[in-house]
Amino acid sequence: MRSELLSPDGDDEERRIEDRDEQGLRPQSLDDFVGQEQLKSHLRVMLQAAKNRDHAMGHMLFAGPPGLGKTTLSAIIANELGAEIHITSGPALEKGGDLAAILTKLEDGDVLFIDEIHRLARPVEEVLYPAMEDFQLDLVLGKGPAARTMRLPVAQFTLVGATTRTGLITGPLRDRFDYPARLDYYEPDELASIVLRAAGILNVDIAPDGAAEIARRSRGTPRIANRLLRQVRDFAEVERDGKVTADVARDGLEFFGVDNRGLDKATRAILEALCSHFDGGPVGLKTLAIACSEPTETVEDVYEPYLIQQGLLMRTPQGRVATAAAWEHLGKTPPTTSPDKQIPPGLFD
Ligand SMILES: Nc1ncnc2c1ncn2[C@@H]1O[C@H](COP(=O)(O)OP(=O)(O)OP(=O)(O)O)[C@@H](O)[C@H]1O
Ligand SMILES: [Mg+2]
Repeated sequence: MRSELLSPDGDDEERRIEDRDEQGLRPQSLDDFVGQEQLKSHLRVMLQAAKNRDHAMGHMLFAGPPGLGKTTLSAIIANELGAEIHITSGPALEKGGDLAAILTKLEDGDVLFIDEIHRLARPVEEVLYPAMEDFQLDLVLGKGPAARTMRLPVAQFTLVGATTRTGLITGPLRDRFDYPARLDYYEPDELASIVLRAAGILNVDIAPDGAAEIARRSRGTPRIANRLLRQVRDFAEVERDGKVTADVARDGLEFFGVDNRGLDKATRAILEALCSHFDGGPVGLKTLAIACSEPTETVEDVYEPYLIQQGLLMRTPQGRVATAAAWEHLGKTPPTTSPDKQIPPGLFD
């Protein structure tokens, strides 16, 4: 597989640096990709069918929180198809023409990966629709009354879209995907396999209970599991004898500020702010984000999903609310609830 970086998105420097370290750890085939069993079995069938028919595979959408394997899976699809992958992202495509330029370069069977597809501008989306549906490109030539449209054929390609925000994808776009897949947080035993696999690649001496301890605190996320493994490895090498046991993992993670539920400083700060500044809420997302000096989007996409999944935070129509488990986790006592703070049941957004 050859890959071509068309327009790297420059606003996420930290993630790209991390991804560079991750390169060697990224699974290259479906067999190496741990977990998401149902999705993998569906993919196997779709890949095989596409190969048998010598036809492009249907368009795929991967949705889910950051670090669960969306980019990895898109590369695996191209790999398994023996196809070339073209990579771009929603914010990188400003005008319809930017996408048209990419589409006209595609060859039959190629994979086009659009990351952050929820951030596509509307005019770009409109260029994408006929390309996805009919492998056609509608070009508008000229302006005003003299404008004409021209249809150009596009190669039979497979679009793979990735998004951290399913809710922000327009209905017409979502409907044009043959397979919209949702990636969920991983189970601790799957994360333990991911840690063991990465430890093998990085030559880390690790005991199974060491891997389990790291897995337990990885917030269901392979990217975090790999990051914590590297931190624990460093701790084990410098502060201990180099072997990662459960005790070493526990001490190393505590040293790096990861608590026993896997919350790091930044994630805990959200709960801290919610409980200490706003009595546990309800408080609006924007206010909460400002209180934590984080961009609203980061709070919503990166920190909140796991807090919600863990039952530590709730989204209500009135705003964000800390649960009893959050107060307990922080070791604080919740204020006695006044009647006007009670949330009507069933109104969560
Ligand atoms: N199922 C898996 N098995 C093994 N490793 C995995 C798996 N999923 C992800 N990883 C590891 O986690 C890292 C992050 O995955 P990836 O970049 O694909 O996430 P993503 O969903 O695209 O995240 P983002 O939304 O931030 O772009 C990869 O580099 C890979 O090493
Ligand atoms: Mg990605």
